Amino acid sequence: MRVDVVSIFPDYLAALDLSLVGKARRTGLLDLRVHDLRGWATDRHRTVDDTPFGGGAGMVMRPDVWGRALDDVLPAGGAGHLVVPTPSGEVFTQRHAERLALEAHVVIACGRYEGIDARVAERARAAGHRVSELSIGDYVLNGGEVAALVMIEAFGRLLPGVVGNPHSLVEESHGAAGLLEYPVYTKPPAWEGLEVPEVLLSGHHARIERWRRDRALERTAARRPDMVAALDVAALDKADLAVLAGLGWQVSDGRLRPAEEPVAE
Ligand code: ADE
Repeated sequence: MRVDVVSIFPDYLAALDLSLVGKARRTGLLDLRVHDLRGWATDRHRTVDDTPFGGGAGMVMRPDVWGRALDDVLPAGGAGHLVVPTPSGEVFTQRHAERLALEAHVVIACGRYEGIDARVAERARAAGHRVSELSIGDYVLNGGEVAALVMIEAFGRLLPGVVGNPHSLVEESHGAAGLLEYPVYTKPPAWEGLEVPEVLLSGHHARIERWRRDRALERTAARRPDMVAALDVAALDKADLAVLAGLGWQVSDGRLRPAEEPVAE
């Protein structure tokens, strides 16, 4: 897979030399190139921004500079996927990561200031590229670089061969089960008076699996009720429904819903 990142702070992306993504680059699974946007500026000061039309605070990144950059890094023939990190984008999820991991060529355009002139995305779309404006969460960063790091790590680890044991990808949070992951433990079995749950030491696979499933359901209900409400009821067994009922969730009209709260008098 080829990934190009364009930024005015290319050094921000140095972390991509580390860990599993760094190894994927060295072994050739990931051809990742970082570019300095200012290389496409044409004036003596290498200006990349200007004041917003219509007024308002802050500066906007110029379309002409970005246009030249993207003409050089997006593949010919509209075959690229342009990702623009922005707090006004769709929220980035594991589903986006899965889709991006299937692409041959992704270009990530990191904006700073108040963002990039809207015609840049419009022109890339008109040229036939896929364009995704994505937010990593409901908070505002100073620029798209940290969001680019987040997205590259999330889709990079899904590329075949990047994570050594592909089973690690199967049971994790935000996987196909739609549940958060159960709590995990390792040696020693007793530490500072805290013991590993007995069942995990039992060697009884079916009981361990049930225990993990119950903890995943409890955790998801406590931390992410939105994920419980989105569960596919047909994919749940009797034991799942009993645990959820104990946590105040009932099936009605084919969906899980929190049990009716008593109406205040
Ligand atoms: N740029 C600034 N804030 C951002 C966010 N939350 N997600 C993606 N890009 C951003």
